[in-house]
Amino acid sequence: MKCSGYLLTVLSGASVALAAPLADDVGTGPYPAAYFTETSLPKHTIYRPINPPANVSLPVLVWGQGGCAADGLQERSYLIEIASHGFIAIASGAPGGTGSTTSALMTESITWVGTQAGTSGPYGNVDAKKIAAAGGSCGGLEAYDVIGNAAVDIIGIFSSGYIGNNAAQASKLKKPVFYFLGNTGDIAYANGLADYGNITATPKWFGSYNVGHMGTLTALHGGAWGTATVQWLEWGLKGNLTAAKFFTDGGAQTAGWSKVQSADLDSFLSFTGPFDFQVAIWTALTCYRSQVLAYT
Ligand SMILES: *[C@@H]1O[C@H](CO)[C@@H](O)[C@H](O)[C@H]1NC(C)=O
Ligand SMILES: *[C@@H]1O[C@H](CO)[C@@H](O)[C@H](O)[C@H]1NC(C)=O
Ligand SMILES: *[C@@H]1O[C@H](CO)[C@@H](O)[C@H](O)[C@H]1NC(C)=O
Repeated sequence: MKCSGYLLTVLSGASVALAAPLADDVGTGPYPAAYFTETSLPKHTIYRPINPPANVSLPVLVWGQGGCAADGLQERSYLIEIASHGFIAIASGAPGGTGSTTSALMTESITWVGTQAGTSGPYGNVDAKKIAAAGGSCGGLEAYDVIGNAAVDIIGIFSSGYIGNNAAQASKLKKPVFYFLGNTGDIAYANGLADYGNITATPKWFGSYNVGHMGTLTALHGGAWGTATVQWLEWGLKGNLTAAKFFTDGGAQTAGWSKVQSADLDSFLSFTGPFDFQVAIWTALTCYRSQVLAYT
């Protein structure tokens, strides 16, 4: 039952202000975006540029909602914003879906984009070799679960962190992890900070924003957290060194992030975690434990 704190807090909406979605919201990036559904991926919501540019390859974000809620529209404006910057964002859960997700749906997203690359459809220019896994709160724990998937490059943890035993669990995270936490009143703050501290030998970043649990993820375009996410993906998946400055050169602090700390960011782009059999086994076990024991 360890994840129930994140699950219940978000599902009850205790600290999450839902922005009214705009019917014509297409994001602020260069590629106006919307969400789509595909029969070949029925339990998901796919955000992408409405007219995918033929000459630009689109890296991927797989996303787990706060509360592990299965409504792929819960952080809709945030994901539209990301897609409008030239990404395909796949949320676990169909539009308006009910119930809970598990990290198995993230794995489905990752497998699915691999089948789309190079096809003549609207996802043909997906860059299925550039994948970020991230999520808010309970969804962040799902992102941890897929870190052992060889296709996943980077992990984003928003208002989340392991609940208990941080040292043992976080020390096994062997890919770059960026933490976007609320203030010290965020129920995940201490957990995320402890995970950050216990990660060894991989690039990592931590920042706190003075808002509560789940921050601005449901604000229009994801608010300040949407901006930070775009910078993170621009750098991590597209190698955009201007966006890197948000993390390496005070951009985040200027944007209102505090308690910022980082390590090994010089090797963020070149980092390639070796395939680690122990990590793969551990990830599978963690997934089993978190899904079967914690979310029931
Ligand atoms: C892609 O093509 C469009 C239209 O021809 C052009 O304006 C744009 O600069 C191109 N982008 C890149 C990254 O080549
Ligand atoms: C590692 O996690 C433990 C909690 O499990 C925490 O008390 C400790 O401060 C963390 N270590 C670092 C270096 O942050
Ligand atoms: C790189 O990131 C910066 C900062 O977000 C952005 O202004 C710029 O458009 C990006 N460059 C490209 C080629 O997308």
